[in-house]
Amino acid sequence: MLNGPLLLTIAVLGGTGKEGKGLAYRWARAGYRVLIGSRSSEKAVTAASEIMQLLEGSSSVVGTTNLNAAQQADIVVVAVPYSAHRDTLESIKTALKGKLLVDVTVPLIPPKVSKVQMPPAGSAAQEAQEIVGADAEVVAAFQNVSYEYLLGEEEVDCDVLVTGTSKKARAEALTLVEATGLTGWDAGPIENSVVVEGLTSVLININKQYGSTHAGIRITNVPKPSAD
Ligand SMILES: NC(=O)c1ccc[n+]([C@@H]2O[C@H](COP(=O)([O-])OP(=O)(O)OC[C@H]3O[C@@H](n4cnc5c(N)ncnc54)[C@H](OP(=O)(O)O)[C@@H]3O)[C@@H](O)[C@H]2O)c1
Repeated sequence: MLNGPLLLTIAVLGGTGKEGKGLAYRWARAGYRVLIGSRSSEKAVTAASEIMQLLEGSSSVVGTTNLNAAQQADIVVVAVPYSAHRDTLESIKTALKGKLLVDVTVPLIPPKVSKVQMPPAGSAAQEAQEIVGADAEVVAAFQNVSYEYLLGEEEVDCDVLVTGTSKKARAEALTLVEATGLTGWDAGPIENSVVVEGLTSVLININKQYGSTHAGIRITNVPKPSAD
């Protein structure tokens, strides 16, 4: 099991974007050291300083390239559009040995983003597992959480289903979910990520039909998991 937040570094690849920046903010707020990864270190430095301003300088957020961020981190989060998923992972996979990879990617294929379209591997997370091999544990999480409120203090009305390659990896990811202030659930093996990733297209569909922008999901009738 990994150590407490203050000793851990999380790299957020694509942390300059909507979802990645919101998650990075929440982890920095919880006391993790956060590295914003980007294809452009300049862009990453700007995003990191935006987050530091929101946190009034009280946290450690640094911008750098995706590879440098992955090399320096204990935990690597990938939050890029599906079209960039494979290339991003191929470019950093040598830095993943013994680390936890948290995949936030949804395999949306524009323009039909409200239709479930899974890749041949089964899901984006399973594709990630194929790319990184046995060197890293892979979990899938946050696919159903809209970025909208992540950069604020408002409650995010959505649970997080965590699937992954081992129970230990899922437990580590659940600690990260808790640090964001959301409720996470162990949703089983990585093969189950197809359902969670697919749910995002269902939520996009609901947003379109009912005039919302951030439909979410809740697990009901189960006692809320405790942190311990
Ligand atoms: N937005 C949401 O509400 C939400 C919710 C749940 C899950 N997700 C998933 O999270 C992932 C990121 O979503 P997002 O909305 O944050 O995306 P985004 O803002 O469009 O992009 C995130 C970052 O990915 C990098 N990127 C973009 N195009 C790229 C390309 N062609 N090649 C390499 N890198 C590229 C960019 O970083 P650099 O230019 O700095 O490299 C960008 O800032 C997606 O898979 C999405 O499905 C999003």
